[in-house]
Amino acid sequence: MYIRRLLDDEYEDVVKLIVQTVHTVCADDYTKEELDAWAPSNFDVPKFRQNLSGSLNLAAFEKGKLVGFISLERNGYINRLYTHKDFLHRGIGEALFKKAESWAKENGICELSLDSSKTAEGFYLKMGFEKAGISTLSRGGVVLRNTVMKKVIKNGEVK
Ligand SMILES: CC(C)(COP(=O)(O)OP(=O)(O)OC[C@H]1O[C@@H](n2cnc3c(N)ncnc32)[C@H](O)[C@@H]1OP(=O)(O)O)[C@@H](O)C(=O)NCCC(=O)NCCS
Repeated sequence: MYIRRLLDDEYEDVVKLIVQTVHTVCADDYTKEELDAWAPSNFDVPKFRQNLSGSLNLAAFEKGKLVGFISLERNGYINRLYTHKDFLHRGIGEALFKKAESWAKENGICELSLDSSKTAEGFYLKMGFEKAGISTLSRGGVVLRNTVMKKVIKNGEVK
């Protein structure tokens, strides 16, 4: 597996991966209505790409196939992290996270934060995050509840 920055013409592949992952991997934790609100089949790719411009966008590949994606904003907010549904539990999510975390440290970011899905909570706890509250996000009239999670990183050391 190797990780590199996402190229401009690869956003469509990322969107496909996200829709597929959300509707399978997260299916036990959310209703169909919630899954559709989170990752609709008519996902707006140009808007998605626009939203992520200015962020660190990294993709993981296995034999040339896109198998994971992470997006980190310059303020330390992890906006997206997804592993392909057929490539879970092979260290891809962790490898993407570690690369983004290293970049954050190199760029003087002191704290990482995110709004975690129910599905990913255990993963982020393993990565050293702590729960810091609840957040809600309204998409198309459907309210999605997430767990706010934070991780302090200082002086090149992970606290
Ligand atoms: C969360 C996610 C990215 C993890 O990806 P992954 O590639 O399977 O994770 P890794 O294989 O790198 O796992 C790293 C460690 O976390 C653990 N882990 C992975 N997913 C976990 C989960 N859901 N709950 C608890 N632990 C988990 C692994 O067992 C592994 O631990 P180990 O090193 O002791 O074996 C993936 O499950 C996913 O895409 N989920 C759906 C989308 C989602 O909810 N994304 C987050 C949006 S906020």
